[in-house]
Parts: sequence; structure tokens; C-alpha cells
Amino acid sequence: MTTATRGSVGSAHARVEGRDKVTGAARYAGEIPFADLAHGWLVLSTVARGRVRALDTEAVLAMPGVLAVLHHQNAPRVDTDYAGLMGMSPDPSIALFQHDRVAHLGWPVALVVAETSEQAREAAESLQVDYEQEPHDVAFGAEREAEAYALDGHMPGVVEKGDLEAELAASAVVLDAEYTTPEEHHNPMEPHAATARWEGGRLEVVDSNQGTTWVAGELASLFSLDPASVRVRSEHVGGGFGSKGVRAHQVGAVMAATVLQRPVRVVMTRRQMFSLAGYRSPTAQRVRLGADADGRLRALEHRSLNLTSAVHEFVEPSAAAGRSMYAADAHHTASRIVRLDVPTPTWMRAPGEAPGSFALESALDELAERCGLDPIELRVRNEPEVGPVSGLPFGSRNLIACFREGARRFGWADRDRRPGVRRDGRWLLGTGTAAASFPAGAMPSTAAVTAEADGTFTVRINAADIGTGARTALTLVAADALEVATDRVRVRIGNSDFGPAMIAGGSMGTRSWAWAVTAAADELRQSLAPGADIPPEGVTVRSDTSEAIGALAQKERHSFGAQFAEVAVDPATGEVRVRRMLGIFAAGRIVNPLTARNQFVGGMTWGISMALHEEAVRDRASGGLYGADLAGYHVAAHADVPPIEADWIDDPDPDDPVGIKGIGEIGIVGAAAAVANAVWHATGVRHRDLPIRPDRVLMAGGDA
Ligand code: MOS
Repeated sequence: MTTATRGSVGSAHARVEGRDKVTGAARYAGEIPFADLAHGWLVLSTVARGRVRALDTEAVLAMPGVLAVLHHQNAPRVDTDYAGLMGMSPDPSIALFQHDRVAHLGWPVALVVAETSEQAREAAESLQVDYEQEPHDVAFGAEREAEAYALDGHMPGVVEKGDLEAELAASAVVLDAEYTTPEEHHNPMEPHAATARWEGGRLEVVDSNQGTTWVAGELASLFSLDPASVRVRSEHVGGGFGSKGVRAHQVGAVMAATVLQRPVRVVMTRRQMFSLAGYRSPTAQRVRLGADADGRLRALEHRSLNLTSAVHEFVEPSAAAGRSMYAADAHHTASRIVRLDVPTPTWMRAPGEAPGSFALESALDELAERCGLDPIELRVRNEPEVGPVSGLPFGSRNLIACFREGARRFGWADRDRRPGVRRDGRWLLGTGTAAASFPAGAMPSTAAVTAEADGTFTVRINAADIGTGARTALTLVAADALEVATDRVRVRIGNSDFGPAMIAGGSMGTRSWAWAVTAAADELRQSLAPGADIPPEGVTVRSDTSEAIGALAQKERHSFGAQFAEVAVDPATGEVRVRRMLGIFAAGRIVNPLTARNQFVGGMTWGISMALHEEAVRDRASGGLYGADLAGYHVAAHADVPPIEADWIDDPDPDDPVGIKGIGEIGIVGAAAAVANAVWHATGVRHRDLPIRPDRVLMAGGDA
């Protein structure tokens, strides 16, 4: 062995698959060749509610290359009565073609399978579907509060501590404001794509997803298969943002492969993704803050409303963000849902925290203004010793250190708190700040590490690299645990045969996988006698972190951050330009500074996108979206994004074997509020509805 080394974690390392990706050698799910491949094309409903009365399949079956048309009368039956991811019931939307009901516009009503993708599309677009249409209701807004109900999602729905009205009444300063965020769509660059086939009695699926354990498990449950007879692979993933779980395309591909007994691929179009891939619900939020004259919070209330579909309950837990952030004598938070005839929303880019932090961190800025305090000083005065609601100790909490470092680097000390006083020609200039936080967690995972006879090591873990650099991070982690250089370590991921592991989600992927890899690699290193011969099949050690993670003490475990933005607003056109952004994070040990910075900057870019651009508009008449494509739905592009700096302070997690907390989502949290707060500072006008479009800036006027 070469000299023992433990310096890989923390050193910048280019993506191990980077060359394959830029040369095109890396293949994505929709382009992997299969012999005898057939192609499926989904047909989506054109009505928002009702029944399928008839499908004219005969005409379509006579078209060139068409092999089958699957629909509710002939598709294989599936079972949805099972516990899915983290024990949650599955969204019945994935049970394709099980009945004639249409729950929303864009509901899948048929799958046309043909020899080529073009033939399948041609036939799918010709399929005549006759509907019995019923009135639909897609109107969302704060006015639906009366019909809403609370529900525990992945966070408790309602949490109440103390007497809210009494503390509000006793407050010297009260802020009561309503905020809204629009429907937003994930839009990963790579559309959802899956190929299914039966081989040697096993179901094989090649897919693009955020966790093959998850997808394999759900497909086994849906089709009542022995889990050991299902294998899902997902090697390269061109983005997910929460949308790449079990979706119609995998289920349709499995059905068609079963009926035709040949490989079938189903790829979503960009437009189909707008109704089949999930999205972030719009939110209507109300925040009431009561404070003493010195800014200390007596009352914090945050209520959030989101929509869900008629067939499944999904909570966007926007009100939960404050529970670990600020101390207050009375602390009431509630996330509620209202059911409409729309697709089921899902997790997207910091679900809950992203829209929730827009409302709460805007409200804090408004409160600071009313108290005549610097917004950072307001946060310092409300910094809790322990969890504000839970009373639990923090694993580590370095929020104020992030603000101090950020303020120093951003030049915050020179800021004039008065709005609308800085100008650069026709532009009004302003700066804003906001806090960020995101839960830091780990979930049980298994890994296997093999010492090969040639002196190299192979790590097998069912991780997903959705563009984050997870494969590279795990290479560094394994190298350190094995005390070898990274070029002797190869990491294989994205294969459900490797055993159960956490998904790439909840900012918990890399931490969960690194824990399992470290456990197996540590044990392997200790078991290998120096200079001992390795047999040809290698020496393998397996790990399972269930017990270690189950033994973790209950604590408030979070990453924190401070966001800063400078904007320029043209009062004549309403245009808002972000001029610079800085984020300082306390987010655990940083495994790979190169890809970590990339993730933080990516999250902050989504924050700009959320603040200024992204908005899916639902047409109440049809029940569908206007402009459901990347022309109609604008995500921040290069021209919208200024130089963004992201950095971090030392904050290793004391209870994690590697010190990791997780950085996947915190970059977006607070970023939209920092931009909105900067727009207020530039103009003196508070924007409480996202996105801050030019028309809204013009209509609101300003001090100019
Ligand atoms: Mo993320 S929204 O947990 O994929």
C-alpha cells in the first residue's frame, strides 16, 4: 500500500465522471441502446375532470408500426394499497389506467406503443378519446382557507406553543402580512425516461431517478412482485430537484413490456412533465409577529395554505421553517391544504423551507424596519438557546457566525437603512439579507467495499448522483476511510441490486451514503493484514447503518446560512436586476469544495429564479397551464444571474462520522427573501407576491 493518507475529504476534486459527461460517453436513460426496443408515448387528458367514455383504438392500431394501445380497459391491474417511501401511501396518480376517472388536465389516459418513437407519437396524437366532462375547480388563493385542513406531511401540520393573542396584544410592535408564491415546476434538464424489460424472470428497469431502492420497491409493490425480482438502474441523472421518483413513465413502460414481452421505453416530453412530474404548490401565507420595542419576539404566527390534488394529499410544509429559527413566547405554525382538480404537487427544491422562508424572512425584514433595527441585529436578538418549540439542544448552530462573516464580506456595515436613497443613473439600488436553515439528517443505508486483488477498491452503494457530485464526494470519503489515494477507489452507484440506501433527497443523500461507506471501509481497512494476499474475488465488507442512526440522540439538527443580495430596479420599466449575491453557510463538513460551491451557487440561482422569474399560471377555464414549456415558464438563465459568491464557515457535525450535515437544498432557502428585501430597500415598496415581475414593480410604484 502507498503511504496512508486522509486528506481527500475537504480538497477540491473534479467530478470523476466529468470527462464521460462532457464527451458524451456517459449515457442517460433515454439513450441507452436496447435490442428489439419498442417505444411508448403517453396520451394525456384534455379535460380537467370527468370520465373517459371511449377510446377509438382501432384506428390507431392500424397505423404504421403500432403494437399496442394500453388504457383503463386492458392494462394490467396494479395494487396501491401499500406503504411507500418513509411509510407514506403512494400517490394513486401512478396507478395508470386502473379506472375511467380523470382527476386533472393532463391525466394519463392511454399509452401507445410502436416500433419507433415517431410512430408512437404520431399514433398517440391521433388517438380519439371521448370524455364525459364534469365541472372542475382549480382556483387557488387565500380565500380557500375556510375549506382547508391541516395534515401531518413529512413535518407536523400544526404546532402551537403559548397564548398567541395575549402575546400579540402585549407587543409594542405588531406585523401582520400576507405573502404568496406561485406554482413552480422542477424542470430538470433531462426529462424523465425509463426502459423496462423482462429478462430471466426479472424485471429490469433503466431509469433516471433519485433513488433506485425507492423506485424498485414501489414497482415491486405496484405489480405484486417479489422485490428480489426487480432491478432498477439509474447511472447518470440530469437533474431531479425532487421530481424524479415513481412516475407514470416507469409504470407505463413496465405494463407495456409485460404485455408485449419486449423492452419498452417511455420518455416524457417537456410539456408532459408539467402535468406528470409533480411541482411545487402555490402558497398563500400569513405571518403575524409581535415584538417588544427592542425587537425581541413575543409572538410568532405563520400559517400557510397549499393546494393538493383530488386523489392525494401532499403538504408543502411552509409554516414549519420558523419552528427551529426564532424564539418567541407564543409560537404558532400551521400548514394547511385545499383539494382541487389539479395534479398532485410534490417535493421540490427545499419543500416548505423555500416558500416558507420567503414569507418569514420578508416578515422579519419588515419587523426590523418598524423597530428601527438593522435586520441582522433583529436576528441576533431573537437567537434561541435551544429549539424554540422543541426545547431540544442544537447539534450545532452557527447562524450568527454566518451573518457576521457575510456582513463583513458583503460590506453591510456601510449600509444606509433608509430605503430608496441609492441611485446609479436610472437604477435604484438596494441590499437585502435573510437567514437560511435546512434540517440535517441521515437515513439508514447499506454499502459494500471490496479490496481487489490488484490493489484497488470498489465501493458499491445504491446512491444517486443527480448532478450534485455525490459519486465524487463518496470517492473522497471512501479514500479517506481506506487511507488510500482517490485514484485507487472506484465508486459504483445507481443499482438497486447493491442493497437499500437513502434516496438523493431531503439534503440527506451524501451524508447517509458517506456514513455507510465509511463504516464498511473502516472495517475493511482494519481487517486487511498489511502485505496480505487478496484472493482473486477480492475481500468484501458490508455495512448497514440502521442501528447507528437509530441510536442518535434527539436534537435540533440543521444547517444554517446567511443570504445577501444587491439589486438594481428600474422604476421606468419595472425591471429588477440582481447585481451580486453572497451566501455564507454553516452546513457541516464540506466534502468537496468544488462541487459544494457549485451546489450552493445553484441553490442561490434558484432563489433568484424564484424571486423574479418562475411562475406557472393555471387557466381557470381549461384547468391547464398557460405556456407549459421552457418558453412560457422562465427559469433564471445566464443573463439573469450575476456573479454569485458562496462560501462556508467551519461547522462539522459532531455526531456524524465524517462531520457532514448536507448541502443539497439550503442554498435556495432565504435567497428569494434576500432579493425581495433588497427590492424594498431599493424602492421603499414591499413586494409580498412572487415573482417580482416588472408589471408588479410598475403597478406598485415607488419612491422614485
Ligand atoms: Mo429534494 S426536493 O428532497 O429532491
